[in-house]
Amino acid sequence: MEEQIYLNGVYIPRANANISIMDRGFLFGDGVYELIPLYRKKIFLLDKHLKRLKNSLNLIGMKDNDFNINDIENIITTLVKKNKYENYFFYIHITRGIQNTRQHIYPENLKPTVLVMGENCSVFNKDEISKGFKASIQSDFRWTKSNIKSISLLSSVLLKNYASQHGFYETLLIRDNKLTEGSASNVFVVKDNKIFTPKLSDDLLPGVTRDLLINLLKENNLDVVEGDVTESDLKIADEIWCCSSTNFVTPIIQIDDSIINNGTVGNISLRAYDLVRDFISAY
Ligand code: PDD
Repeated sequence: MEEQIYLNGVYIPRANANISIMDRGFLFGDGVYELIPLYRKKIFLLDKHLKRLKNSLNLIGMKDNDFNINDIENIITTLVKKNKYENYFFYIHITRGIQNTRQHIYPENLKPTVLVMGENCSVFNKDEISKGFKASIQSDFRWTKSNIKSISLLSSVLLKNYASQHGFYETLLIRDNKLTEGSASNVFVVKDNKIFTPKLSDDLLPGVTRDLLINLLKENNLDVVEGDVTESDLKIADEIWCCSSTNFVTPIIQIDDSIINNGTVGNISLRAYDLVRDFISAY
């Protein structure tokens, strides 16, 4: 059977799903999204993802009653049954909807476009994690509301493709000499056994994995500080890792020409990886 997706109230094969060219998501990138993992048929940290989605919607002025966010659990559960997913990822995409004319100003009564579909994201295995990855420092030229999980991802697309074309896993983004995050991940830095991660602000996404990691590390008596990390802190770090829902802990062993920890993955990074992996196994 063809893979089914959910679009605006109906379950249909992915190949048959279409949206109007007048959708504000298509014309303006006017919408928000979430990416939620599924492990052993269980939706991972759904409440955290829905809370962030609700916040993103509010921050772009879409009211909660435009779409019932709590329907998403049912929709995902239905898609899991229909497509027999076990371990997968779900992409939720909500736009402000269709407007008859292309204009920046939107009326209040638009009906949101809601898409939910499974995504087969690539996940690194333990062997790849143990070897580590390279990253590049780039200037954070994205907009200054990166706390919103906006579907307008052109700058992230350019940054991630820069990384990919130059042999890097990720770009680590600097704004006003401070690390914000990666183009599609949050970042942790270890120095003298202390763990640092940029504090939450409008400049970075409040990552669900970031939050989980902070709690797990603290519960395991590891020191975590949410504060400022500068570009030079990155270069002299003992360990660095990126985190996201798709690749929960991805160790970085080289930043541009600077080698981190003699080019090997450090113990705290591996511990962080194991903590999240064990949490997922027990979930
Ligand atoms: N992105 N920062 C940015 C800019 C991101 O795009 C992501 C994740 C994260 C990590 O957030 P979380 O731990 O909640 O996944 C941080 C997803 C995976 C994506 O765009 O596909």
